[in-house]
Parts: sequence; C-alpha cells; structure tokens
Amino acid sequence: MSFWAGYPEVQHELERVQHLIDQETAGPGGLISRALSDLTRRDAKFLRPGFVVLAGRIGNGGVPLGEGAIERAAAIEMLHMASLIHDDIVDGARTRRGGDSLHITLGSKRAVLAGDYLFARSFALFAKSSGQEGLRLLTPSVARLVSSVIDESSGLDESPASGLPGGSLRFNLSPRRYLHRIVGKTAVLFALSFHAGALEADTPSKDLIEPLRRVGYNLGVGFQIIDDLLDIAGDPRKTGKPRGTDLRAGVVTLPLILAMQKDSGKILPKLADQARHARWRRTRVHALEEVRRLVSRCGAFQETWSVAERYTRRAEREILRLPPGADRDTLQEATTRLLRRSA
Ligand code: IPE
Ligand code: MG
Ligand code: MG
Repeated sequence: MSFWAGYPEVQHELERVQHLIDQETAGPGGLISRALSDLTRRDAKFLRPGFVVLAGRIGNGGVPLGEGAIERAAAIEMLHMASLIHDDIVDGARTRRGGDSLHITLGSKRAVLAGDYLFARSFALFAKSSGQEGLRLLTPSVARLVSSVIDESSGLDESPASGLPGGSLRFNLSPRRYLHRIVGKTAVLFALSFHAGALEADTPSKDLIEPLRRVGYNLGVGFQIIDDLLDIAGDPRKTGKPRGTDLRAGVVTLPLILAMQKDSGKILPKLADQARHARWRRTRVHALEEVRRLVSRCGAFQETWSVAERYTRRAEREILRLPPGADRDTLQEATTRLLRRSA
C-alpha cells in the first residue's frame, strides 16, 4: 500500500479494503489463509482498489465511501491476486512481491485452489455490492482477461519442426495483437476499477463514467508496457519478481517486437532461445543479459517507453475532464509516478 503513502484519505479507505480482504481470505483457514494474508501484506501497490477509491471520491465530492465501494475495491484486488497466483504457476515464476510465489510455499495444487477460492469470493462480493448490474460489468472483464492470457500462452511454436523442447519463440507477433492482448489482461481491469468507483455516485452519469473508464484504459496500457519493459530491464530487488519471466514463459512483448524489427543480423531469436533453453543456468543468465543489451542498444527500450508515455499522456488528458479537486490531483500524480516507476 506504500504506493499511496502521502495520501491519507486514500490510505484510510484502503485500510478498510485490507480489513475486508483479511476477513475474506481467512475463509479457507490453515496454510492457505496464512499464505494469502502474507501475500496481501507484502508491499502490494493496491493500485486497482486505489483507483476504485479515487473514482468513488471524485464522483461523490470526496465524502467517505459507502460499504459498497469498499466491497467492489476488495473484490477487484482479490480478482487480481487470484490471477497472479495462477499466472505464476503458468509462467513458472518463483517469486512475487519479493517473496516466494504461492505455488512455491503451498505447492501447485493448493495454489490453484487458493486462486479459485479468491475468484469465487470476488464474484460474490461484487454481486453483494452491485447485484446484477455489477456482475454484468465484472464477468465480461474476467473472460477477456483470461482469453488474453490464453492468447499469450500461444506464443510458442510447439510443432516438432521448431526442434526445441518446449518450442521456440514466435517473434512475429504484430504490435496490434500485442496491444489487444495487454488491453485484455490489464487495461480492462483498470477500466473496471474506475467504473466500479463511479458507481458510488448517487446518479452515476455517462459524463463521469466514460472519462473515468478511459483514464483506466490508457493508464492500464501504459502500465503493462512498463511492466513488460521491467521484465527485461528491471531490478528484481525492486520489482520483487524474477527478470526474464516473459521470455522463459514464451511471452513476446513490445521491447522484443521492436528490437526484432531492427535486428538485421537475426541474432535476437538465437539469444532468446539460449536464454530459455541453454543447459546451464549461467549460460541462460548470460544470454538473457545479452538480450537486454541488444534491446537497449538498438533503441527499442526507448521506443517502448515512448509508447507507454503516449498512453500515459492520453490518461492525463482524460483526467483533466474530471471534476477538479484534491482527488483529481492525486490521480494525476499517481499517473505520472506509474510511468516513471522502477517497481
Ligand atoms: C499478468 O501479467 C496478467 C495477469 C495475470 C492477468 P504479467 O505476467 O505481465 O504480470 P507479472 O509480470 O507476472 O506481474
Ligand atoms: Mg507473469
Ligand atoms: Mg509482467
């Protein structure tokens, strides 16, 4: 929650959200509950619930939020947690938020079930606070999120012709398809968070909901592009997750797509395959470092960052359409910080 340090009004509401998540995650009991509670406490940014809170406050003039908004915020964070727990299994990522991933501490069976439990409770909480209308918002977003992760998992050419155990990377992903994917896996849930906050207003109007959704959409795309950049160039001590997970899981992202367009010598595919398949860990780490250097040298990092910046600027422009006040300022600052983040 330290992302919101310095914004006591937001933090105060997020403590209510945390309290509710604690109650919910106590459900299964035993090891699973302990692991879930530990996961929410490891420096989670609480971005999505923070957006619910800010959108709620912007829509109702900054008065303390009703229980419904807190429930929707908790539901969205729980949904996000569930998707990360499953994502780490799918990607074989061993660390998350600076600690062991849940499938490392609990084993995959229990981690899958912990994620399932969170999904189910998230839906229940959303339905409780917003009924049919809430579920009509939530369910397509979840379906879109999962479809995008399914699409992402098709990044490998697993035909025997690829000659590599586990397949070789398909580099020919178009920027357009990449964008479609990250909208689904990240931006849709960001937009939903803002929409969920807007429902707090007495009579939520289109004039409020639409710009808020567009803030979430653009912020989400920018956020995921930076996440993909950090996967290659970030410091694991800051991000709290291992470097190179995307590559290892066969996920091709914007820095690689752009670098490929410049890589006339076609060394990137070879290096990438080495980073994924070399027999020795040292060789893999070395190849990964070479990938990073190549992407940096050819200017693809800078270009990737500029794309993220473009979406962030769009979010900023949308924010200016919202009613002015301290909460709008907070949102504006958060937007800038997300672009410049290293964690
Ligand atoms: C995960 O995206 C998105 C979902 C689980 C929906 P990433 O795979 O990029 O997230 P990190 O990098 O593991 O946090
Ligand atoms: Mg991942
Ligand atoms: Mg990532």
